[in-house]
Amino acid sequence: MSNTREEILGRLDEKLKAIDQDTNVHLEGLVWSKPITYWDYIQTDALLNLQIQRTTLPDEMVFIMYHQVNELLFKMILWEIDQVAHAAAPDAVQFAEKLNRASRYFDALSSSFTIMSEGMEREQYLKFRNTLTPASGFQSAQYRFIEFASTDIENIADARYKHTMNSDTPVEEAYNNLYWHAAGTDRTTGKKTTLLRLFEEKYKAEFLRKIQAYKNINLWATFKNLPIADQQQPDLIKAMRHYDYTVNITWVMAHYHAAEHYLSNGDKAAEGTGGSNWKKYMHPRYQRRIFFPGLWSEDELKNWGDFPL
Ligand code: HEM
Repeated sequence: MSNTREEILGRLDEKLKAIDQDTNVHLEGLVWSKPITYWDYIQTDALLNLQIQRTTLPDEMVFIMYHQVNELLFKMILWEIDQVAHAAAPDAVQFAEKLNRASRYFDALSSSFTIMSEGMEREQYLKFRNTLTPASGFQSAQYRFIEFASTDIENIADARYKHTMNSDTPVEEAYNNLYWHAAGTDRTTGKKTTLLRLFEEKYKAEFLRKIQAYKNINLWATFKNLPIADQQQPDLIKAMRHYDYTVNITWVMAHYHAAEHYLSNGDKAAEGTGGSNWKKYMHPRYQRRIFFPGLWSEDELKNWGDFPL
């Protein structure tokens, strides 16, 4: 493709004609357009004005900003997953490439978790956390979207309900069986924690839509639909296992250690701001969230959370 002025104008004419536009008007508009700057393009002013503390404690700023960094990276992860999910016919190489991108973000989140455990004074954390109750990272909707986009719903169901579910389970029933939904609901009375109730008021409709939308195009479903030869590609299997491990063990353990640093005090453990029995709730050994169960050996499945990759 040549890039002479005539050539470019020709292509522009073609493009604008297709949408009934006059090229001259567009060119005249360019005469008056402002030059782009870094700060307008990146929206730095807007971005740097989103950090609002609730207390006077300086380390609360670290806490807010690091959570915001996480949400941005969650968005980047979803961006990559969606490219695989919506690709017409992804091949093993493209699949592995996008998955490795998503994994790199999760790896970065895991290794940077020390910003939480080492980057704040425990005394300050224990003070400002009281102003955050009953909010919790539990209420990160993007974290839940990543789970829906990664695997079939039964793989993120509470262990007690997993065996009762299959691909015909109605969406709302499947949603009620999710591990985090079950954790926020009293099994006998059906009463929900405030944390969960508020989360649902804001996001439940969107969660149901996403579960439905990713049903046949989540990463695990897409993988299982690849030709068998692609499913056996060692690089793809390695990328899949790495992603599963980094999301469900490495990140979870980094998070667990940060919680332990702040909430454990000798034998006594403080509750999380969301009020959970966090030691049990957060450890992969109990949670057993596994996105791609068919890619792990029996031994690895049995010892989930207790072996290096
Ligand atoms: C000092 C740092 C942190 C502590 C002490 C902490 C503690 C906790 C605790 C105790 C829970 C269990 C629910 C509850 O009772 O609140 C939880 C859940 C959660 N937190 Fe954090 N957290 C920290 C940082 C973060 C960061 C930086 C993120 C990133 C967004 C995050 C995301 C989450 C998510 C997604 C859950 C739900 C996990 C699940 O359902 O398995 N947390 N956190």
